[in-house]
Amino acid sequence: MDLSTTYLGLSLSHPVIPGASSLTEGPDRVRRLEDAGAPAVVLPSLFEEDIEHERLRRLRDVEAPSESFAEALSYFPRAGTEGIPGPDAYLERLRKIKEAVAIPVIASLNGASPGTWVEYARQIQEAGADALELNVYFLAVHPGVGPAEVDDRVVEVAGSVVKAVSVPVAVKLSPFFSSLPHLIARLGRAGVRAVVLFNRFYQPDIDPEALEVVPRLRRSTPAELGLRLRWTALLARRVAPQIAVTGGVHGAEDAVKALLAGARAVQMASALLEHGPDHLGAVVRGLTEWMERKGYESLDQVRGLLASDGSSDPAGLVRANYARVLRCGV
Ligand SMILES: Cc1cc2nc3c(=O)[nH]c(=O)nc-3n(C[C@H](O)[C@H](O)[C@H](O)COP(=O)(O)O)c2cc1C
Repeated sequence: MDLSTTYLGLSLSHPVIPGASSLTEGPDRVRRLEDAGAPAVVLPSLFEEDIEHERLRRLRDVEAPSESFAEALSYFPRAGTEGIPGPDAYLERLRKIKEAVAIPVIASLNGASPGTWVEYARQIQEAGADALELNVYFLAVHPGVGPAEVDDRVVEVAGSVVKAVSVPVAVKLSPFFSSLPHLIARLGRAGVRAVVLFNRFYQPDIDPEALEVVPRLRRSTPAELGLRLRWTALLARRVAPQIAVTGGVHGAEDAVKALLAGARAVQMASALLEHGPDHLGAVVRGLTEWMERKGYESLDQVRGLLASDGSSDPAGLVRANYARVLRCGV
């Protein structure tokens, strides 16, 4: 059974990758994942704000910063506390991880505004990263800022990261854009090799008794996969960047669905945190068993089988299915 795939120019023995989370935090954890059969790992992110904190600290300006960005910095959790590494510690951790394992290591930069922090992409490359995932976690909340401006910003940030490095760059996106196909096509033209669909926005809850907004990080459930499957299937044959699915991949069946929709790779975080690194092996075994049962010998025969045909009118189909579901009821 040939489960091999190429993702971000990396040759992988199979397509199930541990995504960015505390599980990929240091050399011991990453070695554990390699032992459990991970074909590559995505490290937790180095945040733009941590880099800026450090830069401002070096300028001895952090107490009276003049930039508006400083407001965000004032409530951002500080590197050096709660085990959060600053930029230098992140690079050191990356070097140690590279020494500890033979599998490709995809580092992650998390940022949403153009700036000097992008220079860190080069340092991450020098520290040995085989590829870079750029997480553009940004919520457009200003009524005066339109969709074109938001898209321009994402493309500008991604383009400047691509220019800073020679390793392949992926961009992790949220689903909240007016036209994802248009944005992803632009990212492709800017040199982005893959998109990771989708970022989960950590939605705060409201406590009606305490009358408080409560920050909450919930692990995902497979129910979140549907949104990813729809967009992967719609985009896989329409845009140049490869697609990796993140969000709601918990078992082999979820991975199979994402691959059928056209994903090059799937990333897992919540399920591995819940069941431990060996769950990865169970997912790969389940994928193998499914392929055997269906008579497939390689992943190439499976990938994109249920992706939308690039020439048809998916918007019409989506509306027709929507109407059918509503009228037939459940
Ligand atoms: C504890 C935890 C830490 C995470 N840290 C990061 C991070 O540093 N950078 C990032 O891009 N995503 C991060 N994520 C998001 C995951 O990589 C992933 O995209 C998301 O959890 C959806 O996948 P899942 O359904 O497999 O959990 C984190 C998720 C969890 C649960």
